[in-house]
Amino acid sequence: MEANIFIIHGAYGHPEENWFPWLKNELEKRGRKVFVPKFPTPEGNTLENWLKVFKKHEEFLNEDSIVIGHSLGVPFLLTILENKSVASAYFVAGYNPETLPKTNEWYELVKTFVAKPFNWKKIKENCKNFQIYHSDNDPYFPLELAEDLAKPLNTKVNIIRGAGHFNEKAGYTKFEKLLEEIAIPSILLRPIRHSDIDICWKWINDPEVTRHMAGPFPETFEEEQKWFEENLNKKTEKLLAIIDKKTNAHIGNIGIHNLDKDPSLGIIIGEKSYWDKGYGTTAIREALKYCFQELKLSKISLTVSPENKRAIRCYEKVGFKKAGGETMEILEKNFMPHTLCPKTQKNS
Ligand SMILES: CC(C)(COP(=O)(O)OP(=O)(O)OC[C@H]1O[C@@H](n2cnc3c(N)ncnc32)[C@H](O)[C@@H]1OP(=O)(O)O)[C@@H](O)C(=O)NCCC(=O)NCCS
Repeated sequence: MEANIFIIHGAYGHPEENWFPWLKNELEKRGRKVFVPKFPTPEGNTLENWLKVFKKHEEFLNEDSIVIGHSLGVPFLLTILENKSVASAYFVAGYNPETLPKTNEWYELVKTFVAKPFNWKKIKENCKNFQIYHSDNDPYFPLELAEDLAKPLNTKVNIIRGAGHFNEKAGYTKFEKLLEEIAIPSILLRPIRHSDIDICWKWINDPEVTRHMAGPFPETFEEEQKWFEENLNKKTEKLLAIIDKKTNAHIGNIGIHNLDKDPSLGIIIGEKSYWDKGYGTTAIREALKYCFQELKLSKISLTVSPENKRAIRCYEKVGFKKAGGETMEILEKNFMPHTLCPKTQKNS
C-alpha cells in the first residue's frame, strides 16, 4: 500500500503557510504522495465541517500512511485515529484536548474539537508510532499541554528550543528534523538471537521474498535449527537483525560472511510491506559503517542475480559497483555513509 502523507493545518491556518509547502515539495521529490487539505477556519471552524472536508481524502488514508498535525490539526487527528489505522503520527505544537484549560484564548474557537471524550485505547491501537514536537516558548500552548498529550500516548515530547508555535512568525518555513524523521527510515542492527528462528523460517518460505536469492535454503524446520546452531556464534560471521526503530518490528536480516578471508554481505527484508521505502539501503549503510569503521575491512563483495533490479539499485545507492559476472563490490574509500539519494524517477 502507498505510504501517503497527510499534513493537517491548525486554526486560522491554510496549506500554504509555515513549513507545509516546503515539506510537501521535499517529500514529493522523494516519491511520496502528500495531501494538505484546506479546512474552513476561522469561519466554519467546527469539527463537523473539518470531518466533511477530510471525508473527500479519506480513501487515500491507509495503514501505511503518515499523518502530521500542527496545532488544532493534532486534536483533529486524534479524532481521526479513533477509527482509522496509520503507520505514524507526528504532532507539532499540539496539545492534549482533554487538559486544554477552558481559559485558553483559543478554547471557544476549538471547542467542538476538544470538548468530548477521546478513546485513547483505540487511538493507540490504530497507530504504533507517535512523535510529539513542542517548543519551550510556544506562546499559545505551554509545554505542559504537550506533556499531557505524550502521557496517554506512551511517548515523550521532543523539545525544540525557541521554536515558538512552529510557524512563520517563529521562522519555521522549513522543518529539516521532521523531514529527516519521515524520509529516512530509522533502523537498528542487533545480533540475531535464537528466538528469531520462527520469523526467519517464515521469510525463507515466502517464494516472493526468496525469488531472486541464491539458495539452497533449509528445507525443514530442523535443518533451519541446525543452521542457527552452527552459525549464530561463528567468529567469521556477523548475523544481524534489522529492527524498525519506530515500531520495534524485526523486518529482516543482514549478514556479513567470510570475515577471515573474502568478506561478503547478504540481506533479506522479509517483511514485504517494508520494500521500496529505503530500509534496505539504510540497513546496508549501517552494516557497512560497522564493517569499515569498526571491523576495519577494506572491501566487501556480494552476488546478485541480474533480474533482482530492486537489490541492484539498492546496492548502487550505497556505492557498490559491478565487479564482473553477478558480483558487486565496494571499497572502503568509495563508501558514502551519509549521502541521501533522490528517489528513482519513474521511467528511468
Ligand atoms: C533487495 C532488498 C534488500 C531491497 O531492500 P528495500 O528496502 O526494498 O530497498 P530500498 O527501498 O532501500 O531501495 C530499493 C530501490 O530499488 C528501486 N526499485 C524497486 N523495484 C525496481 C525495479 N524493478 N527496477 C529498478 N529499480 C527498482 C526502488 O525504487 C528503490 O530505489 P529509489 O530509492 O531510488 O526509489 C529487499 O527488497 C529484499 O530483501 N528483497 C528480497 C530478498 C532479496 O532479494 N535480497 C537480496 C539478494 S541479492
